[in-house]
Amino acid sequence: MAPQTWHYGLVAKWWAEFLEGGPEIDYFRRFIERDGQPALDVACGTGRLLLPYLRAGLDVDGCDVSADMVALCRERAEREGLAPTLFVQPMHELDPPRSYRTIVVCGGFALGSDRAQDLQALDRFYEHLEPGGTLVLDNEVPYADSQQWQRWLREPRTEPRAWSDDDRERRRASDGTELALQSRLLALDPLEQRATLEIRARQWRDGELIAEEDHTLDIGLYFTNELVLMLERAGFDVVAVNGAHEERAATADDDFVVFVARKPVSVA
Ligand SMILES: C[S@@+](CC[C@H](N)C(=O)[O-])C[C@H]1O[C@@H](n2cnc3c(N)ncnc32)[C@H](O)[C@@H]1O
Repeated sequence: MAPQTWHYGLVAKWWAEFLEGGPEIDYFRRFIERDGQPALDVACGTGRLLLPYLRAGLDVDGCDVSADMVALCRERAEREGLAPTLFVQPMHELDPPRSYRTIVVCGGFALGSDRAQDLQALDRFYEHLEPGGTLVLDNEVPYADSQQWQRWLREPRTEPRAWSDDDRERRRASDGTELALQSRLLALDPLEQRATLEIRARQWRDGELIAEEDHTLDIGLYFTNELVLMLERAGFDVVAVNGAHEERAATADDDFVVFVARKPVSVA
């Protein structure tokens, strides 16, 4: 089955309008500058990382499974006179026009794909890196959200949280409409290590609700040692497991860990 993400329509618009900045940008950039170009930003979304890299003159391509996200990324790039190579592809079928010294994946791994596809994605990253090239991939740990972590237990099983009607969640977009986004956990399967989330995106014009979209997203939950084994299985040497998009070893307090994995220079 094709991976099903929720980054379409109003959700994609929200990303393009409001999601900018963050410590991830400089963190991943240092690897591209140090470990080499060209680089590929997998799951580039609307270009939160990619656009600053292009502005800085780095040679970076972008790909994403969502045509809506890629279209908005292209639009934003063109507005600045930039013409990046962008393509729509699920990462487990990655087939880029060239090979890379560095591949970065920020916030995009295991969203809507199944376990076999996640393993395939790691194989694809390996295949499309040059020998000695580096993969930098982040992962939110399964215990990052304390409410979600409770759902790993058989008890208590709670009903999904009700949608909120709190108007303070609305934000004004550049076209004058207002947007609000909220998400909730629907289910968690600890055996399969999968969580099902639901998102509701709404849009108002002059105070009147003009659009409402609901999407679900089934995400794979991976523990750190498990991902290390998966990367090794794909042929990578895991050279570092960093914490929270900082160049230091991850600790148990980190919500995000980042895997720095190298494709060996000579493959036996
Ligand atoms: C949380 S956003 C992160 C976007 C961007 N990397 C950033 O940090 O701003 C996740 C992105 O992953 C993309 N995505 C989800 N599943 C994917 C897949 N199987 N292959 C490629 N992209 C995927 C979504 O479409 C979305 O743009």
